[in-house]
Amino acid sequence: MKSLDVIKGFSKLTKKEKLELVSHYFHNPAEIIKELQEYWLDDHHKQTLIDEFSENTITNFMVPYGIVPNVVINDKNYLVPLVIEESSVIAAASSSAKFWAERGGFKAEVKSLNKMGQVHFLWGGDSAKLREFFPELKAYLIHGTRLITSNMVNRGGGILDIELKDFTDKIENCYQLLATFDTRNAMGANFINSCLEEFAVLIKEFINDKEDFKGKEKDVTIVMSILSNYTPDCLVRCWVDCEIPLLEGVDKDFSAEEFAKKFEIAVKIAEIDTYRATTHNKGIFNGIDAVAIATGNDFRAIEACGHTYASKDGIYKSLSHCTVENNHFTFSLEIPMAMGTVGGLTVLHPLAKRSLELLDNPDAEELMKIAATLGLANNFAAVRSLVTKGIQIGHMKMHLVNILNYFNAGVDLKNNALEYFKDQKVSFKSVSNFIQEYAKNNKNEVKQLTNLDSEKH
Ligand code: MEV
Repeated sequence: MKSLDVIKGFSKLTKKEKLELVSHYFHNPAEIIKELQEYWLDDHHKQTLIDEFSENTITNFMVPYGIVPNVVINDKNYLVPLVIEESSVIAAASSSAKFWAERGGFKAEVKSLNKMGQVHFLWGGDSAKLREFFPELKAYLIHGTRLITSNMVNRGGGILDIELKDFTDKIENCYQLLATFDTRNAMGANFINSCLEEFAVLIKEFINDKEDFKGKEKDVTIVMSILSNYTPDCLVRCWVDCEIPLLEGVDKDFSAEEFAKKFEIAVKIAEIDTYRATTHNKGIFNGIDAVAIATGNDFRAIEACGHTYASKDGIYKSLSHCTVENNHFTFSLEIPMAMGTVGGLTVLHPLAKRSLELLDNPDAEELMKIAATLGLANNFAAVRSLVTKGIQIGHMKMHLVNILNYFNAGVDLKNNALEYFKDQKVSFKSVSNFIQEYAKNNKNEVKQLTNLDSEKH
């Protein structure tokens, strides 16, 4: 094992050389090189493509790609691909999708595709004067970026508005250009950032060339130019609703009315309590992130935006809402998200392309509806379990296989365990005990088992 010295020139090494170097940070370098190379794709072209999405790659990290069938949105039936490592997310979404498919499906609508970007700058003049010349500056910025925006304008998008924000009461001389963009089916990060960096050049140019600004009024310091991941108008709303009696059968131990009432209270708790809201929203992002990854979208941007939106009223709250009124149950989710179906990884990643094909090559609006629906579907399944039988029965059943794999259980042991735990509580201890018992009676199998003495998990 090498000590953690500063490594110079790592990025200049070939992939093999990087792997070789990294392997010496493990106890068994030869084995590590072999193991990590097993995840390299045979297809050199595809592997290079994947490597070039990032930097310093030494192998590929596998995460399952699964399908949620029966997702009916606005009367269209989708098979939705999800990339997720957490057991039970796909099972939960599938059960929820099927449940609602039999009750009219999900409905969804998008408010707009508006995205935001900012140029922050310092200027020491009189703010009234800057405001006076702002309409002229705005026209100058829009005209000055026409070469960058022309293609987007032809597709129906472009720069929608630019506002001047004055922060001088909080930070000396601090202003901001807040620009609104429509990037159509592109997530649009490169487009927006290119426009903003050009604005930064143009604003200096405008103030310098204008005779009305004199002396220190000519000095503009650009602090930074970057898109905002908060896009509150790029909003999608999706919902399910039905007459309360149609909820009958949602759980064998609950009547439709009892379920609806308890479900509504559970969602209301997430509207008033931040601890619960965080977990509640995490369940929503289980579905949304998994669709975002499967379609080559930026799930970090989507999460950041969603959590900010959840705090828009001054306290962090549930993104979904439930009403039970006049014998009617409505469960809805409203969330802004910047998604794209053209450009970037969406067209480069071989599986992102396939995901979009499976979804019938949606535009950005349709993909937002699909991702939000998976968020709502997962949220419904989670809260349904929580207010009825609890989450652990289902979760640990799914986790059972992971535990069995941890012990390197063979097919026979797995089948026996799956049968046994059909009506037994799954825990690491109970599975471990089951395996110990099994091993006593099946000496052959013992050889392949690993971690039997482990206290991990
Ligand atoms: C687990 O990944 C997500 C849940 O905790 C969500 C929730 O509590 O609503 C089950």
